[in-house]
Amino acid sequence: MRVRDMQDEIVRLKKEKGVCVAAHSYQAREILEIADFTGDSYQLSVLAAKATHSTIVMCGVKFMAETVKILSPDKTVLLANPTAGCPMAEQIDKELMLAIRETNPHYTVVAYINTTADLKTVCDVCVTSSSAVKIVNALPSKDILFVPDSNLGAWVARQAPDKNIKLIQGGCPVHEKVSAQDVHDARTACPDALLLVHPECVSDVTTLADFVGATTAIMEYAEKSEHRDFIIGTESSIVENLQYKCPGKRFYPLTKELICPDMKLTTLSDVLCCLKGDGGEEIVLDEETIKAARGCIDKMIELGG
Ligand code: 13P
Ligand code: SF4
Repeated sequence: MRVRDMQDEIVRLKKEKGVCVAAHSYQAREILEIADFTGDSYQLSVLAAKATHSTIVMCGVKFMAETVKILSPDKTVLLANPTAGCPMAEQIDKELMLAIRETNPHYTVVAYINTTADLKTVCDVCVTSSSAVKIVNALPSKDILFVPDSNLGAWVARQAPDKNIKLIQGGCPVHEKVSAQDVHDARTACPDALLLVHPECVSDVTTLADFVGATTAIMEYAEKSEHRDFIIGTESSIVENLQYKCPGKRFYPLTKELICPDMKLTTLSDVLCCLKGDGGEEIVLDEETIKAARGCIDKMIELGG
C-alpha cells in the first residue's frame, strides 16, 4: 500500500471509529501528518487528558502511553508499536527507589516523566524537560532528589541555585553519547550555525550550546530566530521536521548518532493495524497504580501549567 493510501485509510478509520492519534515530535513525518495532536511529552500528556475520544493511539514510547492512561483511565489507550520503550524509563525500579527514599527521608523526589507508571507511584512529582526548572523552583522543599536523568538534573540544578539537588546516575543513552568533540567538529563544519541542544545531553555539551531546551522549545527557537543555520542537538527527526517547517533555513544534526531506535519503531502500518483492531498494545494499569501515579502527574500539571 502506498504511504498516501495508507494515510487516507487511517484518516477514514479514525473518523468512523472515533479514535484519535497522538504522536511525539520525534515521530516520522508521515505519522505526524495523520496525528490529531503532536508535541513534546508535556504537551501530549495535557492534550490527551482533554481529548473527548474514547480511544487514543499513542505513537511514541511506552511511558507516554502510560501517562495518557493514568490521566484518562476510562479511555482505551493503545501503544501503536508494543516494542517501543524508553531505556531510560527502566533504569530505576520501584524497589530501588524505595530503598533510596529510605536513606534520603527528607528529600522531595522529582521524577522525569520518562519513568514507568510503577516508579511514579513512589515519587512526589513528575517533570518533563520543558517544565523541570519551573516545577523544581516552585517546590517548597530545598532538598530535591532528581531521577533518573542526571544530565537533565544537572542542567536544572544550574538554573535553580537555591535548591540542593541530589542526582542518581542515569540518563538517555542516545543524548548522552554526544561529546564536546562532536560540538567542536559540528561548529567547524558549520561555523555560522547556532547550536540548539536538549538538556538530556551532558554538561560538557549543554554549556557550549547557544540554546538549551526541550523538543518544543528547540523547535520554537529555530522557527522564530532571524538566523538561517542551526545545528540540532537532539533526535534526528527534529532536524527533518524543522526542515519541513522552515524551508528557507538550514538544519544540521549535531552528530549522525542522534537517533533513538525506539522512537523509530512505529510505522504507519502499525497505526493502521491499531485502527483495524488488529495491532498495538492496550495499556492496562490497575486502579491502585493509576491513583498513586496520578498524584505525581497532577502535581506536574498544577505546578508546570
Ligand atoms: P521531550 O520531553 O522534550 O518531549 O523529550 C522526550 C524524550 O524522550 C527526549 O528524549
Ligand atoms: Fe528515551 Fe532517549 Fe529515546 Fe527519549 S531519546 S525516548 S529519553 S532513549
